[in-house]
Amino acid sequence: MSNKVIGKIGVVGAGNMGSGIAQKIAQEGINVVMLDVKEEFVNRGMSNIKKILEEGIERKIFTPAKVQEIQSRITGTTDLNALADADIVIEAVFEDKAVKSDLFAKLDKVCSPATILATNTSSFFVKDFAEKTSRPDRFVGLHYFYHPAKNRLLEVIPHAGTSKETVEKSILAAKLHGKTAIVVKDAPGFAVNRFFVPFLNEAARMLEENMANIPTIEAAGKKAFRIGMGAFELMNVTGIPIAVHSSNTLGNELGPFYATSPIMKTQMDKKENWNLSGEVDESKIEAVIDRFHGVCLGVAAALVDEGVATMEDTDRGAKIGLRWAMGPFEIMNKIGIEKTYSLVSSVTKIYPDFKMPGILEKQKNSGKPFSFSYVDLEIKGKMAYITINRPEAMNSLNEAVFAQLDDRFSVAEKNPDVKAIVFTGAGKAFVAGADIRYFVEKIKAGKVSDIVDFTRKGHELFLRIENSKKLTIALLDGLSLGGGSELALACQAIIATPAGSMAFPETGIGIYPGLGGMLRFALIAGPELSKYYTFTGTTLSVKDAFDLGIVTVVAEPASIDNAIDDLISKGKPDKYKKREIPARFKETAALCGSDNVLKLLAGQQPEGVGAEPAAKALKTMGFKAPLALKISNEIIDRQTGKPVPEAIEIELGRLQEIFSTSDALEGLSSLGRKRPEYKGK
Ligand SMILES: NC(=O)c1ccc[n+]([C@@H]2O[C@H](COP(=O)([O-])OP(=O)(O)OC[C@H]3O[C@@H](n4cnc5c(N)ncnc54)[C@H](O)[C@@H]3O)[C@@H](O)[C@H]2O)c1
Repeated sequence: MSNKVIGKIGVVGAGNMGSGIAQKIAQEGINVVMLDVKEEFVNRGMSNIKKILEEGIERKIFTPAKVQEIQSRITGTTDLNALADADIVIEAVFEDKAVKSDLFAKLDKVCSPATILATNTSSFFVKDFAEKTSRPDRFVGLHYFYHPAKNRLLEVIPHAGTSKETVEKSILAAKLHGKTAIVVKDAPGFAVNRFFVPFLNEAARMLEENMANIPTIEAAGKKAFRIGMGAFELMNVTGIPIAVHSSNTLGNELGPFYATSPIMKTQMDKKENWNLSGEVDESKIEAVIDRFHGVCLGVAAALVDEGVATMEDTDRGAKIGLRWAMGPFEIMNKIGIEKTYSLVSSVTKIYPDFKMPGILEKQKNSGKPFSFSYVDLEIKGKMAYITINRPEAMNSLNEAVFAQLDDRFSVAEKNPDVKAIVFTGAGKAFVAGADIRYFVEKIKAGKVSDIVDFTRKGHELFLRIENSKKLTIALLDGLSLGGGSELALACQAIIATPAGSMAFPETGIGIYPGLGGMLRFALIAGPELSKYYTFTGTTLSVKDAFDLGIVTVVAEPASIDNAIDDLISKGKPDKYKKREIPARFKETAALCGSDNVLKLLAGQQPEGVGAEPAAKALKTMGFKAPLALKISNEIIDRQTGKPVPEAIEIELGRLQEIFSTSDALEGLSSLGRKRPEYKGK
């Protein structure tokens, strides 16, 4: 076994799912062994992977060298013994109970006792296979979504006997190969298929009832969930037999409401796709949307009621796994709980075995919308873990997240057993900045003062984190941007894994880092480098951040707990102690030194630095908002030498001004859509 926490993963079955899973694992830097029964099937899987990676080269996602590196991490085999020392083995063979059972019995014999065995089954219970092994505690469901190299969702499904360690290791494995994990009970359809399959089935039923024609049902489905494909087109793409099979499973386990519509079976028997052509009847769209909502929202509420998944994970599943614009619970809040209740009520009248979920009943009586939890607190002995759990938005910070961070932090701080409070982000990122949409809405509504109040509250929390009597640690194990990097900088220590990074992209979107990032960066690594990273938005790698004294400890994922223990025993690090900047940063610092910075801001060649780095910085800064650059330069200058609370007032004092510029609105609203055009006002 490798000394890394997950050094080798086995994938059994090199078909559609298995090859995609293996590809993704290799893409994220983990060695993978892919097995199938025959050499030719292994080769077919390998060539599928090659084809998709080559498309990636064409689309400039990968370089040819990167593709070679990815491929070199995948070993194909037909020999089960090659999986003996894998940390996890993921089964993705035919959806056949006997085939899977037989395979797991063999894997159990061959694999080391430490190996976790996982099934990617869609329709059987995880426990059915766990029971076939001598290690039910080290057995879990890992349910991927097509295409597994592209769709980020992963349902992690412990059965009743799965150990806590296995669940934790599975979640870590998910994170390490770029998946967003939701933990789901071992129940029919798990979380996502439980409401997705009824969506397909209900579309067919409405057709069968002559409620509307296919194009109308398609148009309504797309509108109901803001998705690119309707139910019939989705069935055409993934295969009607899969839909029938999944629906049969739900029907058998859960009763007639879930039973497959006869027209779907007929269509499957005809071995033909659905004919999508025809006219949309606008007059019927509303009724079809209502029916879709009644069914899907009702089922989502039912599964949460049964404890299959949380509301938040159910929403995440829909948004990440199915690419719905909003999750079912967010839709319920949007259309209103009263209306949701009445739509679900209508469905219970059509299908009497489907009962009104208690959670909806309760919410309706409360007269309030659902409120979501975005920040989790877990206390384990002397450690408190505060996890920002909004991976679908890369954990970005908004008012609700801040309020919950504040709340969880207060609870952790008050707990006398807690010695250290660790901030982490769920999924691949740490925290990708603040919620840009919030800023845009406030600017458009003429309420910039709300942004100032929001930022002030953020500062108050960050100061409490910085000055807490407990040791506060940021676990930087993924990308951080803007407000996320600022949260990390506000902690007393930063533990980073090699996957961590920091950057301040704000000046590129017309604003400046407003949560103390410039200030704290300058206090650790000097105002020149603070200016450089603010002006250029250059990503700071973990190695550079460590050499500069910004990151306290670099640790592999497997040794994070040790690193935390170590920090606790050493006591609080002296965050702002005087340090020498390593020689290799001197030239970068000189670029933004007092002799050069005004030249640089005026777009002129600085002196005493190489032509190449100067040209590069000038070019990068050419894409930034000029006013944002100018104001951040002034702020950093004025902050120098001031105590932290006073320095914070200086940056708060310019917020109204920067957010009122037309460049701020241009930059913030262009993000992800187009390159902003700045006018310098
Ligand atoms: N296709 C989807 O959208 C999807 C989504 C989630 C989960 N799943 C599940 O993933 C699993 C695989 O589905 P798929 O679509 O990749 O199927 P597939 O038919 O494309 O691939 C299955 C592969 O498993 C191999 N295989 C069969 N028995 C084997 C054995 N004993 N040892 C090693 N290899 C063996 C086959 O040769 C084949 O290459 C199924 O359980 C399915 O329910 C599928």
